[in-house]
Amino acid sequence: MEFTEPVGDTALDQRADGAVGKPLDRVDGPLKATGRATYAAEYAGFGEVAYGYPVPATIARGRIADIDTREAERQPGVVTVLTWRNVDPPHGQAPRTPDGPTSGKKAVPELGDARVDHYGQAVALVVAETFEQARSAARLVRVTYDPDLHETELRPNLARGAAPQGNDEADSLVGDFDSAFEAAPVRLDVEYSTPVQSHAMMEPHATIAAWTDERLTLFTSNQLVSAGAGSVATTFRLPRDRVRLVSRFIGGGFGGKLDVWSDAILAALASHRLKGRPVKVVLPRTHMFEMTGHRPQTIQRVRLGADHDGRLSAIGHDVWSGNNPDETFTEPAAKVTRTLYAAPHRRTTHRLVTLDVPIGCSMRAPGEAVGMLALECAMDELAERLGLDPVELRRRNEPDRDPEQGVPYSSRKLIACLDEGARRFGWQRRHPRPRQVRDGRRWIGMGMAAASRSVALKPSKCRLILRPDGSAVVELAMTDIGTGTYTILTQIAADLLGLAPDRVTVRMGDTDFPEASGSGGSFGANSSGSALYAATEELKQTLARRMGIDPGQARFEDGALVGAGLSKTLEALARAEPIEVVGDFKPGDLAEKFSQQSYGAHFCEVAVDMDTGETRVRRFLSVHAAGRIFNEKTARSQCLGGVTMGIGAALTEEVALDPRFGAYVNHDLAEYHVPAHADVPAIDIVFLPERDDKASPLKAKGLGELGICGVGAAVANAVYNACGVRIRDYPLTLDKVLSGPGEEGF
Ligand code: MOS
Repeated sequence: MEFTEPVGDTALDQRADGAVGKPLDRVDGPLKATGRATYAAEYAGFGEVAYGYPVPATIARGRIADIDTREAERQPGVVTVLTWRNVDPPHGQAPRTPDGPTSGKKAVPELGDARVDHYGQAVALVVAETFEQARSAARLVRVTYDPDLHETELRPNLARGAAPQGNDEADSLVGDFDSAFEAAPVRLDVEYSTPVQSHAMMEPHATIAAWTDERLTLFTSNQLVSAGAGSVATTFRLPRDRVRLVSRFIGGGFGGKLDVWSDAILAALASHRLKGRPVKVVLPRTHMFEMTGHRPQTIQRVRLGADHDGRLSAIGHDVWSGNNPDETFTEPAAKVTRTLYAAPHRRTTHRLVTLDVPIGCSMRAPGEAVGMLALECAMDELAERLGLDPVELRRRNEPDRDPEQGVPYSSRKLIACLDEGARRFGWQRRHPRPRQVRDGRRWIGMGMAAASRSVALKPSKCRLILRPDGSAVVELAMTDIGTGTYTILTQIAADLLGLAPDRVTVRMGDTDFPEASGSGGSFGANSSGSALYAATEELKQTLARRMGIDPGQARFEDGALVGAGLSKTLEALARAEPIEVVGDFKPGDLAEKFSQQSYGAHFCEVAVDMDTGETRVRRFLSVHAAGRIFNEKTARSQCLGGVTMGIGAALTEEVALDPRFGAYVNHDLAEYHVPAHADVPAIDIVFLPERDDKASPLKAKGLGELGICGVGAAVANAVYNACGVRIRDYPLTLDKVLSGPGEEGF
């Protein structure tokens, strides 16, 4: 089906007491809790696995002058040491640059030649009988380099920024921004910056690769297995059907596993060299920061021009981010500014600066997550300048249609989220001026921010099998990256087919199943769920024909197909043979006719220590409107994760660069500080009821990434409200807080 117009009521709307929406426990929960859910590195039973350990480059740019593997090769258990000189790819041709599904492309195909394009790039893979033997021998590979001059720092290179090639959405201009901003009675012109951030997912990148008859199977950890199989096929010049990716369980991705990275390509190269012997490559945490992707650093200039009543006349957002040469991914931080607030005169720009750094790519809510760290703090600054409540400032700039696309919103409940959040949080108790509320030697403050994340749909297919016993099996190359996809697809299938959830089995994470969207960009649930919807419609047609009734009058109900005064159980209809149908879902043009975003509002209370500058988040509330919520529990968990990650972005997370080598120095979880339990307070998550019939046949919108958008700004605004220190350079570490103005303490 092509989704060109809303589909009207479906069984999800008609079933008053269905499974969808309920806080159903994860159907894969018992497998995970008992260690029986198999992750990439854990597959076994297909022959003796060899272990690969990569050797990372130690220069930012240049060539390998010499690479001496002899000592490593003499070590016990070492099977081979792969370098660009002896690599033995399929067809004898060097691997090509894979096309990344979402993030541009990787700069260097692994071991393709002697070039080094960034620090940490793999220059060799030691393969041994055990992991420990490979790791130990890897230290004995001697590499010498001819380094080139390199540039790794964003700020000194801003002048080299250019609109990314082939991206005609880098800029937007509406009206006459410059004149309107000049003429505005109240003006704000501020610069915010955000550091390199790391996805820091729990499960490291890992792959077991095995070749059989020039067919490659990769047990790997990848969010988009269908696209990933295409990338691998391109890399090795193979027909797409000779590559199989299996990712049944994934221990987090956050965008860091949208692409195929070195673990997969290196394992495949090594297995090919070893005539198909399976090779396992698990990236050590310290390699992940540089050998895979990161969220690029950004510098953002926000300009707001308003009248004395707080109505915006001009809104401008200019963004610079860096990436490795050949990479096209540019942090789209100003995109949200194109849709969030009304103003007749507008300007957004994105500039890419080529830097000899590891590869920048999508990380949870690419764009909004860091763009709103700037925009939503700038709104707070403007509110103070105007003497207006920050919630009221947003209310006064609520657009009635998309201010740049000129089309209506599919649905938009931003103001409802703000109002509900303000009421529940006790926002009226906030003192508008900073440094007014104390608790012992701590300043107490409240802050808020809006949340918004773009909504997308992707083509997806889904196989649906009705078994002779009347139960159903759902198969598609979708993934569950920890978000709950197994569970929500079970719930959706159950309600659409009129079955209890325990009569539905969902199988995913394998490219042998029909091609599906995968998990990314918050499009996974809506896209794969819509394919499942299309499959249930197909099945209804097939069964109605068998029953001899008009499919238009047929509906699934309590394990039967009902219509035209007849009712027949699914068992009876399936007879002895399983019935198999495939749903084929394609997005239509509703995304162009309607501006589609999910919305929310965040409210935060912090305490800032007067002596140490330490910020503790005390309370946090998010109110979201994201269309139909499939499962209240897994949806809430997504939002808890978003708040947690947003607290990290606000207060602690920063990958530090050593510009002498283009190296990331704090490349482990001891030094890259993600929030620990003690850093995260009790969090309240509220969902406002909403159905968006333009966003998908299921009337849901994207949710996963919405949870982080705006969170850090709410924290930063609360820090300002507490102690009067406005920090525009994230994260808000103690030293920056202490250097702020103050008579007492700081
Ligand atoms: Mo998301 S950053 O598209 O996994």
